[in-house]
Amino acid sequence: MIIAFASLKGGAGKSTLSIHLAHAIALAGKRVLLVDADPQGSVSSWAAARDTPSPFPVIGLSRNTIHRDLPELMVNYDHCVIDTPPRVSALARSAILAADLVLIPVQPSSYDVWAAGETVELVKEAQSFKAEIKAAFVINRRIGNSAIGKEIDSALADYALPVLKTAIAQRVIFSESSAGYSVMELTPSSTAATEVKNLSKEVLKLMEVKKW
Ligand SMILES: Nc1ncnc2c1ncn2[C@@H]1O[C@H](COP(=O)(O)OP(=O)(O)O)[C@@H](O)[C@H]1O
Ligand SMILES: [Mg+2]
Repeated sequence: MIIAFASLKGGAGKSTLSIHLAHAIALAGKRVLLVDADPQGSVSSWAAARDTPSPFPVIGLSRNTIHRDLPELMVNYDHCVIDTPPRVSALARSAILAADLVLIPVQPSSYDVWAAGETVELVKEAQSFKAEIKAAFVINRRIGNSAIGKEIDSALADYALPVLKTAIAQRVIFSESSAGYSVMELTPSSTAATEVKNLSKEVLKLMEVKKW
């Protein structure tokens, strides 16, 4: 399965969630490839900042032919996670077109909910070429039980895409993870690590869903 994190909003959590989902899938014993399709190279920098090898392979692939090239690169892997750039571009389109599942991270703020519309449009455009692409929102940086946290599900409902049950909370450990280690490495028994593992379980289960 190929999962792409997409959002035209910078800072939504694409790179952070790509790294963490890939690591959780690797910890579940699956062979996973993380593809950095953002010319900014956050995921590649993450891997390069480590003193030890990354627990899963990371490759940079910022070209407009990902949807054509990936199947061949995938032969030795069960799953692939793609981090995509925050711009409408041939590259973003190609990465989305490559995916079986597009996850759109949104922060619980009205700005993010409004901005999500553009990303949804990009996904719909890709679905007009490849109808079987699934898409869902994933809430990132949820803050406690704030009212906006609760309201976001109903605000997102207007887009007619499912919202994953697992939300990722706003936690300092996620910002610390940008220095080259996942939260599962930094704090293996933390709630943050549990959230990420729950996210991967939910995502892998989604692929069994026939009717979307
Ligand atoms: N759940 C979270 N809690 C705290 N900080 C987060 C969380 N998710 C992302 N961040 C931080 O927010 C910033 C933007 O995240 P990033 O993954 O780079 O977004 P994007 O790739 O969509 O631009 C980074 O500094 C990252 O460490
Ligand atoms: Mg990024």
